[in-house]
This record gives sequence, C-alpha cells and structure tokens, in this order.
Amino acid sequence: MGKILVTGGAGFIGSHTVVELQNVGKEVVVLDNLSNASEKSLERVSAITGKKVPFYKADILDREALEEIFSKEDISAVIHFAGLKAVGESVAKPWEYYENNIAGTLTLVDVMRKHGCKNIIFSSSATVYGDPAFIPITEECPKGVCTNPYGWTKSMLEQILSDIQKADNEWNVILLRYFNPIGAHKSGTMGENPNGIPNNLMPYITQVAVGKRDHLNVFGNDYDTHDGTGVRDYIHVVDLAVGHVKALKKIEEKAGLKIYNLGTGQGYSVLDIVKNFEEANGVKIPYEITERRPGDIATCYADATLAKKELGWEAKYGIKEMCEDSWRWQKNNPNGYQ
Ligand code: NAD
Ligand code: UFG
Repeated sequence: MGKILVTGGAGFIGSHTVVELQNVGKEVVVLDNLSNASEKSLERVSAITGKKVPFYKADILDREALEEIFSKEDISAVIHFAGLKAVGESVAKPWEYYENNIAGTLTLVDVMRKHGCKNIIFSSSATVYGDPAFIPITEECPKGVCTNPYGWTKSMLEQILSDIQKADNEWNVILLRYFNPIGAHKSGTMGENPNGIPNNLMPYITQVAVGKRDHLNVFGNDYDTHDGTGVRDYIHVVDLAVGHVKALKKIEEKAGLKIYNLGTGQGYSVLDIVKNFEEANGVKIPYEITERRPGDIATCYADATLAKKELGWEAKYGIKEMCEDSWRWQKNNPNGYQ
C-alpha cells in the first residue's frame, strides 16, 4: 500500500482521522484549500503523533494541482473529506455547493483513475435518508428527499461514485454515512472550529459554556420524541476517525462498493445533550425554546450493526466523554485555532 491522500484533512473530521492513520503507521498526505480550516490543526496532529504531516494547500477543483500531487506522491487510496458542509449556506448558494462538492469530486476522481488509483472512501451523511422511512436506520433504508442542496450533493455523489464503481470493478468505493459527529481529541488540542455563529448543536453549546453566546436556542419542543426536542445519533469524532482506518483495511481487501452507517445506535434529544453536558462538565447552559428550524426532522439514529459485522468497528465513547472532550477543547481554545 502506498500513501493515503486525505482531502479536507485540515478540517474537523479529517484532522482527527490523520491522527488515527498516523497512529497505525500509515503514510498520509493532506490536501486542503483551507476554506474552512486552519493549517494549525496539522501542527496539532504532528504534536500528537510525533510525525510530520505532508501538506498541499490545493483545491480539488484544480486539476493541475491534483496532477502534480499524484505525480509526485505514490498515492494508493484517497479518503475524501473535502467539501462545503453548511446546510443553510447551501440553500443561499446552491451553485457554489454543486460546483465545489460535485465538480470537485469529479475532477478528483478523474485524476485518480488516470494515475491508476481507484480506491476511495467518501464522507457521506445520514442526511441522504431524508426523513427516514424507518428507525433505527439501516443501510437498507431507502434514500430520501433531501431538504437542501448540501444534502443533495451527498446523495448525488453517492450515486456518481456507485455508478463509476459499477462500470469499472477495479474501483473500490466505500460510502460512509456519518451521523452527528461531536467531541474532540482527548488532548484538548484539536476540535471543531466553526466560522461565525455555529450551525450545529454541540459547538453552539460549548460557545454558550465559554461565554461567547448568551443562551442556546432549542429549535422546537413539539416533535414526536420523548421530550419534544429533536433526537440525533451523536458520535465521538475519534470513533468516526477510527471507522475510516477500518474502512481503509476493507479497501485493501478489495471492497468493491460498500455503504456503512457510522453512528452509535443511541438517540439523544437536544435537552438530553444539554443535561449531559451540564452534568459532565459542571457548567450551566441557559436555553430558550424557539421555533422549529426548517428542514429538521424529529428523529435520526443509526443501526450500526453492518459496520460492526463487516469492518469490525463500533463506537466506544459514550455521551459523557463526548461532552467532556468537546468542552476541554473549547475551554482550552476559546477562539479555536486562532
Ligand atoms: P470541515 O469543514 O471541517 O472539513 C472539510 C474540509 O474541506 C475543510 O478543511 C475545508 O477547508 C476543505 N475544503 C472544502 N472545499 C474544498 C476544496 N474545494 N478543495 C480542498 N479542500 C476543500 O468539515 P468536517 O465536519 O470535517 O466534514 C468533513 C466531511 O464530512 C465533509 O465532506 C462533510 O460534508 C462530511 N460530513 C460532516 C458532518 C458533520 O456534521 N460534521 C456530517 C456528515 C458528513
Ligand atoms: N439544534 C438546536 N439548536 C441549535 C442547533 C441545533 O436546537 O442551535 C437542534 C436541531 O434542531 C437538531 C439537533 O439540535 O434537532 C442537531 O442539530 P445539528 O445542526 O447539530 O445537526 P443536524 O442533525 O441538523 O445535521 C448534522 C449535520 C449535517 C448532517 C447531519 C447528518 O449538520 O451536515 O447531521 O445527520 F448531514
């Protein structure tokens, strides 16, 4: 096996995955255009692993830059995180999302095949299930209607990568459908670093805890759930990162086309998260109930038994550790990587 190219490797999930890859002795090369990340995350990776992280500041839309990387480096597989991911922004800027995520991936995959590298692990999302047909969600659950362009890019890219694999079975394609990644590296030196007002629940909570925001807005308490607030499957980012190492092993064994949910199988409501965060960290999170957020669903959690069976992977961190680790990162780095 040659080197592993990690696109979007300076980002939240990517940087944690680089740590786990280097920890098991993989040779990693990172590509990121830093549109939503800081190169400092890679310095933190090096401090943890004691290894250099070869880095190319490049865009997946830049064919020449990709050609150069694939010519210089002996890349045998790509873990493809690079993409824009803000749901609300994607509604306002659909062209930018389709261009970046879809045209970017098409360019990447074209350069890959020209260089004989036909192994890819793709960051998909539970969002492809839309309002899921059944809960807990297995991989057999039909894909649904997405409520925003971001979700459609994931759904469409799954189709595109599947079609490419079906047409040429030298390809090994693993689609990983993430549920809700939170938490941070135990060291407290790496974590999620959102620009501006966080869209997602946990970074919003940690910013309330650190005093940057006054209170949490809870988007609706009239859902059909145990306390009326939305239920999700939160998964520790380090568990997610380890999932990629296991998927890579599957690729090395000639995976063909595979799809796996990466979740814990446990659903927690917004108020469950608030309570767990308060208990784990001894901080108060003031909140107000507000209107539902458009496009949100009541309940989403995984049946993750297929990943356990076929990848030998299962999440090992519980909600307490997720809350503690998110807080340690935020507390030690109130301004993220700045
Ligand atoms: P992130 O924004 O921290 O990481 C994405 C990285 O890709 C960033 O570092 C960004 O600078 C880079 N990037 C974006 N466009 C690029 C381009 N054209 N060329 C090169 N680099 C580019 O996000 P994340 O949370 O680490 O997510 C990683 C992947 O997982 C994304 O594809 C995301 O859609 C997917 N995902 C995330 C979640 C989540 O809740 N965080 C859930 C499901 C799926
Ligand atoms: N929520 C609040 N207040 C906030 C933020 C969120 O009440 O300030 C609630 C939401 O209504 C939802 C829950 O917290 O019930 C989780 O919301 P997030 O925004 O953290 O996560 P989502 O489940 O909406 O979406 C996330 C990612 C998507 C990904 C999806 C996969 O943002 O990219 O998980 O399940 F597709």
